[in-house]
Formats: sequence, C-alpha cells, structure tokens
Amino acid sequence: MLKRALENVLTIDEIRQLYGSFDLIGDIAVIKIPDSLLDKKFIIAKAIMDNIKTVKTVLRQVTPVSGDYRTRELEHILGERKTLTLYKEYGCIFKVDLAKVYFSPRLSTERIRIAKIVKSGEVVANMFAGIGSFSILIAKYQPNSIVYSIDINPNAYDLMLENIKLNKVYDRVIPFLGDAKAIIENSLKGFCDRVLMPLPEKAIDYIDAALLALKSKGVIHYYTHVHASKDEDPIEKAASEIDKKLKLNYKILDARIVREVGPRWNQVVLDLLINKN
Ligand SMILES: C[S@@+](CC[C@H](N)C(=O)[O-])C[C@H]1O[C@@H](n2cnc3c(N)ncnc32)[C@H](O)[C@@H]1O
Repeated sequence: MLKRALENVLTIDEIRQLYGSFDLIGDIAVIKIPDSLLDKKFIIAKAIMDNIKTVKTVLRQVTPVSGDYRTRELEHILGERKTLTLYKEYGCIFKVDLAKVYFSPRLSTERIRIAKIVKSGEVVANMFAGIGSFSILIAKYQPNSIVYSIDINPNAYDLMLENIKLNKVYDRVIPFLGDAKAIIENSLKGFCDRVLMPLPEKAIDYIDAALLALKSKGVIHYYTHVHASKDEDPIEKAASEIDKKLKLNYKILDARIVREVGPRWNQVVLDLLINKN
C-alpha cells in the first residue's frame, strides 16, 4: 500500500527506507520518517492521502513509545488535526487516541489467536489492557467468558469504558484502573484460568502477580522482547529467561515470534501452562 502511494514521488531506495514504518489506524496514517527524508515529509503525506482515500490525517511518529503508559510523541503533517479515530478489527470497533494511549494494529493477528483459544467458562485477567482490544475481542469470540481488564493509564481506561459500550460486552469485560500487581493482590487472587501479560517491558517483574491471579492450574501468555544474534533462536532465549524465573511446574504449550520490533529484536510470546500444586 505504501509502495503504491509513494512510487511517483520517491526513489526505490527512499521507499525502502520507509518500509515497515507505516501504520494505518482507522482513518489516521502514522509514519516514521528517517532524518534523511524529513524534508520530504509533506510530499510523503500528500502521496499517502492521494492514494489511500480513507486516510484523513497523516501523523509522524517523532519518538519511540516510552514511559509507563507506552505512549509516543506525534507530529501532525497533513489533513485533519486529530489523534482520535475508530479502528475496526475482526468485527470489533475500537476508539483510540493515538496521542494518549498505546495502540498497535500490528498485534491484530496475536489478538485473534488469543481470542480463539479462550475456552467457554474461563475467567481471564488482562494485566496490561490498554484500550481493551484483547479483552473485548476475547469477550466477543468467547461470549461465555469473563475478562478482568486492567490498565494504569486513565486515558486508556476511559477509552476502554467507551469501547466496552461500543462493542456491547459490559457484562463480560470488567475494567480496572490501576497497577496490575496491586489490583491482583487486592481483588483477583486465585480467580483466573488465564492471564495475559501484553507488556514485554514489565512481564518478568510482574510474573509473580500473574501467578497469584491464577487458580491452581491455568495459562499465562507471557510476552517478552528478545535480542537474538544470527545463530541464536529468539524462542529458546525467551524460554530460558522464563525457566530461570519459574520455580514451579510448568509446560510451554506454544511459543511464537509475534513480530520484529527492531534489528534482531523480536517480540516473543510463550503460552505457559502452570500447575501450582
Ligand atoms: C503495550 S500496551 C498494551 C496494549 C494492549 N494490550 C493492546 O493490544 O492494545 C501496555 C499497557 O500497559 C499499561 N501499563 C503499564 N504499566 C502498568 C501497570 N503497572 N499496571 C497496569 N497497566 C499498566 C500501559 O498504560 C499500556 O496501556
């Protein structure tokens, strides 16, 4: 899509530099532009808007995601001055404010994978829920499940409330605002069949809280970032990281590379079947 949009305004080499740096979220395009192409940012934005008719706004990602809320700085380049949009995924609709919360359309395959493996009657905790995308997809695909959906960012929490209403899952997605560890300790000890940890930066520090949330047996979806050189296997590295940490019976049900997050950096998910007995 990006290639077609830029063919007439950039060289092949310049287009290549932009590869993998473009996201379409509802009617907003977000693009990372390397310094060498910054003087062409308006031409690039115009080409995107001219070729992808659904795009109403082009934003440039200025900084990487950072901080507890995992937000990023964005610069408006062209089109409507807004950061709020509606994004559709697998029959769900999500209101997202790209300036105030974390959101990535690149996790959509992983979100639907998880939604499809949740079983009838399960109680799930999503420790780092953002605007509620994993939680709501689970509730839609497995209507006989309950998802406790936690986020510490008040803006993400407010959007999660709106998204729960928009998708009519108020009886199945229970929102919490606050620190996942504190909420589990206070309200969810031993409650859950499944725990999602979609925040690689904190997963290892929060695994004890995830274990606390589980019933005597259950599944943890553990997300981590792994750097692997050419002759290293990112999945093996992630498995070794968790093996050093877990001091109880567990089995890896599934292990996957979710996506590349940088040169030689991968986001890996381990589906861990835990037996506390
Ligand atoms: C990478 S985002 C996950 C987004 C979401 N799972 C999705 O697919 O859109 C991580 C989220 O964790 C939240 N967060 C960070 N620290 C937290 C904590 N201690 N307890 C609960 N949520 C936290 C951030 O506000 C952010 O929304």
